[in-house]
Amino acid sequence: MAQEHQTPPDVPTAQIDTGVATPARMYDYYLGGKDNFAADREAAEKVLRNMPQVRAFARANRAFLGRAVRELAARGISQFLDIGIGLPGPGGTVESALAAQPAAHVVGVDNDPIVLAHARARPADDKAGAVTIVRGDLRDPAAILADPQVRAVLDFDRPIAVLLIAILHFVNEDADPRGIIRTLMDAVVPGSFLAVTHVTGDFDPARLEVSAQAYEQSTASLTVRSAKEVGAFFEGLELLDPGVVLLPHWRPEGPVQADADSIWMYGAVGRKD
Ligand SMILES: C[S@@+](CC[C@H](N)C(=O)[O-])C[C@H]1O[C@@H](n2cnc3c(N)ncnc32)[C@H](O)[C@@H]1O
Repeated sequence: MAQEHQTPPDVPTAQIDTGVATPARMYDYYLGGKDNFAADREAAEKVLRNMPQVRAFARANRAFLGRAVRELAARGISQFLDIGIGLPGPGGTVESALAAQPAAHVVGVDNDPIVLAHARARPADDKAGAVTIVRGDLRDPAAILADPQVRAVLDFDRPIAVLLIAILHFVNEDADPRGIIRTLMDAVVPGSFLAVTHVTGDFDPARLEVSAQAYEQSTASLTVRSAKEVGAFFEGLELLDPGVVLLPHWRPEGPVQADADSIWMYGAVGRKD
């Protein structure tokens, strides 16, 4: 599964600090991608030695993302604000949204320069402006909402799906994650949605603590949360069935995978009424 990194020819790597692991590149490594460096692989291998099932977490997370986007598209959503969009890859938001809703517009926000570098390297066609990637930090939601590119692409008078997929566990309590979500959801009209996935320590706190230590050598620390804490992110929203559940149990489109209960990540989707 280990991959040699090959820098895309037109990615301005000078902006990218390859010496410190980043969550985007570690996640890319879990998924078997090529956009990772030695520091990312070293930190990711530490996590994998402690929790080999993390690769399955990453795949289940991408599968949840696809199901959630398809569900939202079926409910008429064509605008997606995906904060922490990560590196492009199979089953990502862009691919899922455009497959489910060809008229979709996706705005991806990320604070890792490699994500922006990839967006610049990507051919400009991407279905006539359907995808816009901007640099931003979830911990400053007001700046994201005020970003001229975000305002130009998304129509805030129509419903928007806010996607916070595998990002909130990189936001610690001091950064006030519930306040961040309130700011984002106050900015969108009724009929909008919030989708969240999140790593939990509910099933093996000691093991999660060891994984969190590996993330200390990356650019973001890991904060695990309980089902109740993840549920609190949806305060004031109507949770879609089945509520906050381990990812494979959220609206499966076929038989639930056998290792579903060892995927220690919650997922949920809520609607603003
Ligand atoms: C585990 S990856 C998930 C990528 C994608 N959402 C998915 O689920 O396939 C987490 C992403 O969140 C980004 N991220 C972490 N903290 C962030 C922050 N404070 N603001 C913006 N992006 C952040 C990382 O750079 C990375 O791309």
